Parts: sequence; C-alpha cells; structure tokens
Amino acid sequence: MDVVTRTPYCAETPLPALNAWITPISRFFVRNHFATPRIDLESYRLAVEGEVDGPLTISYPELRKLPERNVVATMECAGNSRTRVYPPAEGVPWKHGALGTARWRGVPLGSLLQRVGVRPTATEVVLEGADHGREAGVAGDLSYAMSIPIEKARDPDTILAVEMNGLDLDARHGFPVRAIVPGWYGMASVKWLTRIAVVDRPYQGYFRTRPYVFIHEGDDPESSKKPVTSLQVKSLITWPAEDAVLASGRHIVRGVAWGGTEAIAQVEVTLRPIDGDLRQAGWQPAKLLEPRARFAWARWECSVDFDTPGYHVLRVSATDKDGNTQPLYAPWNFRGVATNSIHAVPVIVRPRRRR
Ligand code: MTE
Repeated sequence: MDVVTRTPYCAETPLPALNAWITPISRFFVRNHFATPRIDLESYRLAVEGEVDGPLTISYPELRKLPERNVVATMECAGNSRTRVYPPAEGVPWKHGALGTARWRGVPLGSLLQRVGVRPTATEVVLEGADHGREAGVAGDLSYAMSIPIEKARDPDTILAVEMNGLDLDARHGFPVRAIVPGWYGMASVKWLTRIAVVDRPYQGYFRTRPYVFIHEGDDPESSKKPVTSLQVKSLITWPAEDAVLASGRHIVRGVAWGGTEAIAQVEVTLRPIDGDLRQAGWQPAKLLEPRARFAWARWECSVDFDTPGYHVLRVSATDKDGNTQPLYAPWNFRGVATNSIHAVPVIVRPRRRR
C-alpha cells in the first residue's frame, strides 16, 4: 500500500495491484478522517432514532440475527485522482488508488428502518460513526457523519455491513458495523456506525456541507455548493504502469471501469505518440470481462500494438448504458472531488534489438 497520510491513516492501492475482481482486504484503500476508534463488542450499541415511531438500540448479536445479504460493490473515494487536477485542489493527495471492490455482507438498512416505522415526513437518513476529532476552522469536537436520501437508504443493496470478503470487518474498515452505500462515493459508507438518525430536512453537518461538495470557480461557496453523491463513469488502466518500458510488439492492456448504478456498456483504448493529436486518435474497443454485478466495476482488457518505438500515451475511456462518458479533463472544482478525467498513461516503447 502507498501510505498517503499517517495521521489520520490514509493509504491507497498501487494500480497494478487492482487486478482482481475482488480486492483483497490487505490491498483495500483506507480513508480515515480521525483516529481509528477501538470498539468493544460487549458494550457496542447501534441507535436508530429521529423521525420514527419506535426508536431502538440494537446490540451486535441482535443485529446478526436479522436477515443479511451480499453486495459486491466498488468503492471510490470522492477525492480519488485529486493529484491529477490543476491547479492543485485542497484535500488528501490521492493518486488513482483510493478505489477497490469488495464482497460486503450485512443487514439491509431498509429492513431496520421498516422495524422502527419511518414517519412520512422523513427525507434523509444521517449515518454517524464512533470516530471523532477536530477539523481546521471548526470549533469543538466533530463526529464523522454523512446523510443519504431516504430512497437510497431503502435500496435493498444499501446495507449495514458486518463482513468484508467473507471475514468480520477489520478495525480500519469499520469494525463492527459500517454502512455500504453502493453506487455512491465512499464518503457515505460510514464506518464504525453507532447512530442512524432519520431526519425531515436537509442535513447540514460539517462533512455533508464542507468537504464533500462541488464548488466550481466563480460559484458562491455558500449558495451554490452541490453535494457529492453517486459515482461518475470512470475507467483506469491498471497495466501497464505509468512510465513502463515495453518491448515493441503486441501487449494486453488491462484495467477497470465503473459508474453509479448504470452498467458500463463500452470501454475504449487509444495509443498515441506523446506529441500526437488526440482528435485524430483511433479508439479501439476493449473486451469487458466477467463476472459483472450491478454496483461492481467491470474489468477489461484490450490487445494493443506497440509497434513504433518512442514515447507514447495510452488512454482509456468508458461509457455507461445511458451514454454517460468521461471528459478529457473533468471540470475543475475547489475540493478536487469526483475527478473522472480520461486516464492517460505515458509509456516508452523500446526499439526491437538488431541481431
Ligand atoms: N466513516 C467514518 N466513520 N469515518 C471516516 O473517516 N471515511 C469515509 C467512509 N466512511 C470515513 C467513513 C470515506 S471518505 C471513504 S472514501 C470510505 O469510508 C473509505 O472506506 P475504507 O477506509 O474502508 O476504504
């Protein structure tokens, strides 16, 4: 793992390691805002309250008795690829590896909401974690919390996960219970979940209104900020790595492509000399590999001729079933969030050896 910040701990996965459909836990990125809380299972309780008829607190063994389901979901941090925007945007300096896919298992959030009886006034659900601390420019102690619309909370695939890849969650990934909000950027998948509050107005907490919002140049930062929600269509090349030196000839280029809820329909790859005109680039289709799932990335591969020696740039672009595709450069925003620019990988093709 590439450790990006030590305190709080944030680490990303080198792209060539994202080569399996399911990312091993040891290779799964970590994004913490505060220190990892230590939670004692004996005393752990999850509270469900707010705009509900019968609030409840539930222990871990009680939660584990409820029907569970598996969801394979790709998680991408909203700040992923932030180091690739110019001018630099504020936030954790991620390259492209704040991304992974896991098989999560847990209780649908909707079934718990059904138990407590959500009132018709409900519009959002606030998910709060046990971790807390201070943020620059904010007075007092903050807990990590994020809200999602009530409809998303009721999606059967939005779960309170207790397992990741067949094992109990580990401390860094949210032990004992975390939300998984598939199809959304990772900030909504709240770890170390201790409180679920159903609310009847837009939640205005720090993490919902400050770091995870779009503020574009020229926007009034207060009135025009738009919350970051579902994943944009995006693809990455996982092989070859940046600045790889390749023998001239044919190679299989590999990568991953994902989006919000719409399945990826097409992935295309192009190889151009470094000073080539991209408008004249010929894009060739990549092959989408099985398995596929509603909220999981599609792995892809493409056989590419690297015939001409010298400096070249490989690029990949994905399109979903609704025709959403990737921009060459995503529009700049102050937080550098939801960057889905076309991934460009410079490579060097070695001339063939003369015998
Ligand atoms: N939940 C809590 N309680 N605290 C956090 O700092 N970080 C969020 C989300 N849930 C966070 C959290 C962000 S920004 C991301 S991208 C994902 O967790 C990362 O999950 P992971 O560390 O398991 O990869």
